[in-house]
Amino acid sequence: MAPWHDDLQADIEFETLSPTSRLLKKAVINPLANYMPARAVRAMLRFGRSRFAEASWNDPGGWRSMVLSYDADSPQLADKILISGGTMPMALRNRKRLAGRVLARLINHCDKGEDVHVLCLGAGPGAIIMDAICQAQRPARATLVDINTDAFEYGRRQAAQRGIAERVRFIQSDVREMDRLLDSPPDIVKMLGICEYLPDDVLLPIAQAAARVMPGCGAIVLNSLEPTHGVDRFFRRVMDLHMIHRTPAELIALMGEAGFSDFLVFPEPLGVFNILVGRRISDPAPEPQKDSE
Ligand SMILES: C[S@@+](CC[C@H](N)C(=O)[O-])C[C@H]1O[C@@H](n2cnc3c(N)ncnc32)[C@H](O)[C@@H]1O
Repeated sequence: MAPWHDDLQADIEFETLSPTSRLLKKAVINPLANYMPARAVRAMLRFGRSRFAEASWNDPGGWRSMVLSYDADSPQLADKILISGGTMPMALRNRKRLAGRVLARLINHCDKGEDVHVLCLGAGPGAIIMDAICQAQRPARATLVDINTDAFEYGRRQAAQRGIAERVRFIQSDVREMDRLLDSPPDIVKMLGICEYLPDDVLLPIAQAAARVMPGCGAIVLNSLEPTHGVDRFFRRVMDLHMIHRTPAELIALMGEAGFSDFLVFPEPLGVFNILVGRRISDPAPEPQKDSE
């Protein structure tokens, strides 16, 4: 039987940049975005009624700016420039397409008689797992955990429109509490779009908790983020977005401490994100005991 990742990216419609666009961004656009006075750029975005900027200012790293990037249909000119032409939103759309495919394949190849259970941490409205459930050739269901409930109504509407309302369950919680939330162990744990907002000392206990709730050989799916988008300074100063860049090797080393191994790495073509798929192989660390009063 062919491995689950055979020809994985074959017919995915990725967004790419021509050599001229890359050069133009590197030499002109990125330095301008990074070094123009932040106050002036913010004023321009406010004047242009950018929904993307507003979403980011209201909730840096939140789900709304992510959905705006995925849909790329904001009517505002400022958003058309930022979202359609920006390397980061393009890479986010690539990540969504690639991760949807990865998850669908993992679901198809899961060695289990009943519905495959996917646990989505920091799920937002669940756009990626819904893509995967719809693409997969065998039934799956998802538990979507997010600390904010404001994505849930949008997510439930999307699920209903796609005919999979019965397959998704939204739960409001901090992901660190995940042990207490589940009705059954997950076969796959998905942590996309969240690691880049969490420092190592927060991420590691979450990965350890994920390892504790998973059966042996369960898959974990996450993404690395690298500064190849070229506009980190712009995101920090203008969008209030402070992302943590990690190479796949750094993330794999951290996940190794939580008991995950055998990682496969799938890059999206802009070189900003990699999708990482690892397996829970060693026995996870026991849950730390809370001090008794
Ligand atoms: C950038 S969004 C990503 C949404 C989705 N995973 C995606 O990739 O499209 C990050 C989400 O993580 C959630 N989040 C951040 N910290 C969290 C925590 N400690 N527990 C649960 N959710 C959290 C935020 O509320 C937000 O909806």
